Amino acid sequence: MKLVSILNNKGGVGKTTTAVNLSAACAEAGLRVLLVDLDPAASASVHLNFEKEGHNHKTLCDFIINSGTSLTPYIYPTESDGLFLVPSEPALHEFYEEMQQEDAADFFLQRNHFDQPFDLVFFDSPPNMGNLALNALAISDAVLVPVQTQFIALTGLELTNRVVDQARRHLNSELQVLGYLATMYDQRTRAAKDVHKILSDRFGQQLFETVIRINSKLVEAYSARKPVLKSASSARGAKEYRSLAREVLKRLDLKPKKRKKT
Ligand SMILES: Nc1ncnc2c1ncn2[C@@H]1O[C@H](COP(=O)(O)OP(=O)(O)OP(=O)(O)O)[C@@H](O)[C@H]1O
Ligand SMILES: [Mg+2]
Repeated sequence: MKLVSILNNKGGVGKTTTAVNLSAACAEAGLRVLLVDLDPAASASVHLNFEKEGHNHKTLCDFIINSGTSLTPYIYPTESDGLFLVPSEPALHEFYEEMQQEDAADFFLQRNHFDQPFDLVFFDSPPNMGNLALNALAISDAVLVPVQTQFIALTGLELTNRVVDQARRHLNSELQVLGYLATMYDQRTRAAKDVHKILSDRFGQQLFETVIRINSKLVEAYSARKPVLKSASSARGAKEYRSLAREVLKRLDLKPKKRKKT
């Protein structure tokens, strides 16, 4: 089982879009995939049709409140075969802040809490990385950093890299950078090309070859509460996330599998 944190301190860079669609693409490749929504904004949960309001599913917040030691009761199958979710909810924010004020905010996630066989676990993290994201970094094998292909995105990247370095030094010496992903690439603009070149010069092989271009089908997929691979399977965004999944599996030394028909 490989655990991957999707992380960037900056908001709105494509973390959730990547978490949902990359998870779905890995599941489509036959792997058993779990997405853990660590963001109190719960966008990944909403994207996969697990909105808290009006529903009574359990969330990561319940897991923490109950001092859970197994995530199994909090894991839900999604509409995509092989893709499972631990949903989040807005209450996670207040609850976690209270815990921190009471100094009771120990690390609540441990690897042995994942007691079901998954090939891959992805964490979608909130922007402005606090301890919620550190929980995932402490147990992850690797970090995937989506970077919006705009100049302003490069500044926030320093902070993200610093947090990853600190996590490696203090929490998890095994933590690797799986790669940097250029997102929301607008091929009509010079700026996008320039930023991509800067990323390529700086990160070399660590920059994924796949580039996620601006694609309205990705936004529509969120409104449809499905991964783009389901809502518009042949859209460019779906193809790009499949291509990213191939690169991610290769870097993690995982192979696509044939799923047994159920
Ligand atoms: N490649 C893309 N093309 C067009 N729109 C995109 C693309 N990627 C993401 N978006 C849209 O941009 C917005 C921000 O994306 P997303 O929610 O994935 O970012 P985020 O990093 O998770 O944000 P936050 O930090 O707030 O959690 C969303 O409305 C999403 O639908
Ligand atoms: Mg998000």
